Amino acid sequence: MGAPTVTVKNLAKSFGRAQVLAGLDLVIEPSRINFIIGQSGGGKSVLLKNLVGLMTPDQGEIWYDQEQMAGRSLADWNRLRLRMAFLFQDGALFDSLSVGENVGFPLWIHQRATQAQAAQKALARLRELDMAPAFHHRPSDLSAGEKKRVALARALIMEPEILFFDEPTTGLDPLLSEQVDDLIKLTRAQTGATMVVVSHDIPATLSLADRVAMVYGGRIILSGPPEEFRRSSDPVVRQFLTGEANGPMGFLD
Ligand SMILES: Nc1ncnc2c1ncn2[C@@H]1O[C@H](COP(=O)(O)OP(=O)(O)OP(=O)(O)O)[C@@H](O)[C@H]1O
Ligand SMILES: [Mg+2]
Repeated sequence: MGAPTVTVKNLAKSFGRAQVLAGLDLVIEPSRINFIIGQSGGGKSVLLKNLVGLMTPDQGEIWYDQEQMAGRSLADWNRLRLRMAFLFQDGALFDSLSVGENVGFPLWIHQRATQAQAAQKALARLRELDMAPAFHHRPSDLSAGEKKRVALARALIMEPEILFFDEPTTGLDPLLSEQVDDLIKLTRAQTGATMVVVSHDIPATLSLADRVAMVYGGRIILSGPPEEFRRSSDPVVRQFLTGEANGPMGFLD
C-alpha cells in the first residue's frame, strides 16, 4: 500500500459512433501532481471516470500498481475506493447535512465511527483548512471557495492515497483558484498522495504540475514535465498553450 502508480494501457471508450478514447496510454506517477489537459469535449472527464471505476472501458487495462482493475466487479472497485477520493467540480456536498456532518460522513459509512468520533475528526480536518468556524453551517450558506475547502476536507478524511480532481478551479475567481491550487500542493506535501488533476488552467498547470499529459484525438499526445510542454513545437500543443483561436484544433473555448 501507499501512493499508487496508475498505468493505463490501450484504453478505448465509444458512445455510439463517437470514439472518445482511442487506445490511450498513460502513466500516473506516485506521490506526484499529475495534470491531464486537453480541449473541451476531448474526453478528460471520461478518462477520469474510467480511472475511478464509474465507467467501464470498451477495451484496455487500468493498473493500480500490480492490480488490473478494468472490468472488475463493483466489490473490487469499492475495496480500492477506500484508498481514493474524488472531487467533482461542484463539490457534491449534501445540503441537508451540516458542514461537520458532510466531512465526517465517510467515517460513518466506511468505518462505522460514532457520531462523536466522526465529528471530532471532521473538526480537525476543517481546522487544517481554516474552515472550523463553519462546522455547524449548511453548505448552501458557504461561498464557492469555502465549499471547495469543505469538499477537500471530506475527501481527505479517509486519508486517501490517491486523489482525483475534475477541474477544481473552474468557475472560481483568481484568488480562490490560487487558494485551491495551494491546497492541492499542501495536500500532496502533507500526505504524499498521488494527485490527478484535470484542468483547463494553463498557468496553474505549468506552475503546479510535476507531470502533464495532454489528451487529443482520444490519445495522450504529449506526457512529461511542464518544461517539455513549454518547449514543444507540436502545433496542437502550441495552440493549446497560447489559446489561439486558429490552429489544428480549431476553435478553443
Ligand atoms: N455518458 C455519455 N454518453 C454519451 N456521450 C458521452 C457520455 N459521457 C461523455 N460523452 C461524450 O464524450 C465526449 C468527451 O466528454 P468529456 O466530458 O470527457 O470531455 P472533457 O474533456 O471532460 O470536456 P470539458 O473540458 O468540457 O469538461 C463528449 O463529446 C461527450 O459528449
Ligand atoms: Mg470534463
